[in-house]
Amino acid sequence: MSGDRDAIGVIGVGWVGLVTAACFAEVGHRVIARDILPEKVEALSRGEITIHEPGLAELLARNAERLTFTTDMEELLDAASLLFVCVDTPPTVSGDADLSRVRSVVSELSAGGGHTLVMKSTVPAGTGHSIRRDLPGVPYVSCPEFLKEGSAVEDFMHPDRVVIGADAGDEASGDAVARLYEPLGGEIVRTDVASAEMIKLASNAFLATKISFVNEIANVCEEVGADVTEVARGMGLDQRIGPAFLRPGIGYGGSCFPKDVSALKMLAGNSGYHFQLLNAVIEVNELQKRRVVGKLQKHLGSLLGKRVALLGLAFKPHTDDMREASSLVLAARLEGEGAEVAAYDPVAGDIARGLLGAVEFRDSALEVLDGADAAILVTEWPEFAELDWAAAAERMARPLLIDGRNFLDPSLLRGAGFEYEGIGRVVEGSVPAGTAD
Ligand SMILES: NC(=O)c1ccc[n+]([C@@H]2O[C@H](COP(=O)([O-])OP(=O)(O)OC[C@H]3O[C@@H](n4cnc5c(N)ncnc54)[C@H](O)[C@@H]3O)[C@@H](O)[C@H]2O)c1
Repeated sequence: MSGDRDAIGVIGVGWVGLVTAACFAEVGHRVIARDILPEKVEALSRGEITIHEPGLAELLARNAERLTFTTDMEELLDAASLLFVCVDTPPTVSGDADLSRVRSVVSELSAGGGHTLVMKSTVPAGTGHSIRRDLPGVPYVSCPEFLKEGSAVEDFMHPDRVVIGADAGDEASGDAVARLYEPLGGEIVRTDVASAEMIKLASNAFLATKISFVNEIANVCEEVGADVTEVARGMGLDQRIGPAFLRPGIGYGGSCFPKDVSALKMLAGNSGYHFQLLNAVIEVNELQKRRVVGKLQKHLGSLLGKRVALLGLAFKPHTDDMREASSLVLAARLEGEGAEVAAYDPVAGDIARGLLGAVEFRDSALEVLDGADAAILVTEWPEFAELDWAAAAERMARPLLIDGRNFLDPSLLRGAGFEYEGIGRVVEGSVPAGTAD
């Protein structure tokens, strides 16, 4: 590494850090990325990718010469002045954000070392101020990340917006970060640190609220005989509402929404404000994961000894991330009712095996459906839309499918011999509440 510190430093090489490192390298920068896990650093240094993310392996291979992975913080501090902090901020038992990894990074820096901290990790509003107080000689920029797993490279390279928060005195550092992002396009929002931190939390909480809202609308649709896909289509054309995040399902999961909603609720509570709406968003989401069990019971009666196949396990398609996946709660509830659970996921199987001890794993969608009394579509992987559903029906003991993501065409499934039920979609032969003779 050269002594002029012209490389970009990335600290924490998980989803956000690895994508950030690969994308900055793709734009032409030299990047040095540090993680504390030697096995991860060794694998990446050998050119092996550690996560499933479309386009990332190609990017890493193409830019290998510009990318260095290390466990050594000194090596990073020698090579880079802008340090992008991308470490994890999981929830604590209290629901607050656990900032121990962030604090550990801060403890390795010294005032006047010529470095700038650029915080990409999602942290509660106020974190930047407290770090700036503890490290007075180190400029601080908040640059929250908005990428989505499954399209992370695309999102990073073509952002809707880039938020850059810098307080008085740190404007030049904010300018330096803005210059890095300018070639990517997207509006650059310059603001103060606390507002940047709030933009991230508020955005995720709003999206989670939209999901819980449409899930509740779906549940009411089931009661009154309306079809939520029609309702969402009609709502989404209103420009004030928009069509995104209006697809009901079996609840949001992943490493961000659950913890960020909780962190914002706790942040408000710690400041003396009771954020009532977020309580409901969280509760609706938890209940939504369980509702599908009731749908199965409606068709099958007791689930004791029944074989239930889960199609997909990851919290969303195109990723192997199992953090807070709805499938974890669903599998536990099904097992709690005495069902035998079998599962297939195109990429998350290896990770899921360690989390779902009692679940039987299969290598294909058709195999997992063999002899099943019912199937639940948990993750909307494209290959499930292309499945030979007539062949699938033949293999099942009872061709019953609960489409937890409203992903499949009900008429196609029914034509293939399935009893099909989605979320908030009209169930064939059902009588809406209050309309029976
Ligand atoms: N995953 C997403 O889709 C996403 C999107 C936007 C924002 N975020 C936020 O970005 C942050 C990172 O998320 P992630 O999903 O990439 O996490 P992750 O768990 O995948 O990766 C974090 C990495 O940081 C490493 N690490 C921990 N302490 C370290 C230290 N002291 N020095 C160097 N490395 C260290 C860990 O070993 C791990 O490899 C979180 O705050 C998250 O909320 C995540």
